[in-house]
Amino acid sequence: MEKAKDSRQYYSKITTHVLQEMKLRGEKIAMLTAYDFSMAKILDDAGIDVILVGDSASNVMAGHKTTLPITLNEMIYHASSVQRAVTRALIVVDLPFGTYQGNSIEALQSAIRIMKEAGANAIKIEGGEEVIGSVKRILSAGIPVMGHLGLTPQAIHKFGTYVVRATEKEEADKLIHDAHLLEEAGCFGIVLEKIPAELAARVTKAVKIPTIGIGAGHEVDGQVLVLHDMLGITTKFSPRFLRRYHNLSEEIKGSVTLYIDDVKSVNFPNDREQY
Ligand code: KIV
Repeated sequence: MEKAKDSRQYYSKITTHVLQEMKLRGEKIAMLTAYDFSMAKILDDAGIDVILVGDSASNVMAGHKTTLPITLNEMIYHASSVQRAVTRALIVVDLPFGTYQGNSIEALQSAIRIMKEAGANAIKIEGGEEVIGSVKRILSAGIPVMGHLGLTPQAIHKFGTYVVRATEKEEADKLIHDAHLLEEAGCFGIVLEKIPAELAARVTKAVKIPTIGIGAGHEVDGQVLVLHDMLGITTKFSPRFLRRYHNLSEEIKGSVTLYIDDVKSVNFPNDREQY
């Protein structure tokens, strides 16, 4: 049997069309968040397919409890820093809370600012039927849109908790309906967050566009994690779906402790480290 192509060897730039091809070929899509130049450069050099400048920057970069406070200007600052580092990955940027729910003109204006001022490749919006007017208006301007269903953190005050979504039939049926609406509108992909693996698998089979899961099992077209969580920079957040690939907070603390010790004991700088 012929070995499946690996996008890292075949594409010098990932586009929304490449993601569609990857779904058709059965190659999984790897997506991570980034919010700054240095991290984005490392991710791009490593061969990540998609970088999400997520509004999770509100939590991991700014220390807010939710994603609600981050502003459009702050998202543009993070996204433009990422854009300056990236040559290959597709850059998707979240439209922050309050910049697209009001009406579709406001949504389009927000999306245009992200594309123009940050140089993003696409935007992401949370929600289904309730935001479909905004999704269509943005798409009509030639801006690629990614949907986001299931646990949508901008609606945390409606949900009241971050528990797994769509475990009941009514919510699961609405999610499938929303996925079809997003696909018909022309979205190039959908993030499925914290929903039962069996439901995510059904959605993935039901739509032709790629699905990217976070806490949605493996029968989706790709995976996304928040970089600071998977590297162990954040330590308090540990949902079942999160795999930690590193314990970076301990490593950094160790290095900083050594540095402090060296400074205090005048072991740094030594003769070779001065002019
Ligand atoms: O903002 C974010 O990081 C996200 C991911 C959790 C998908 O939307």
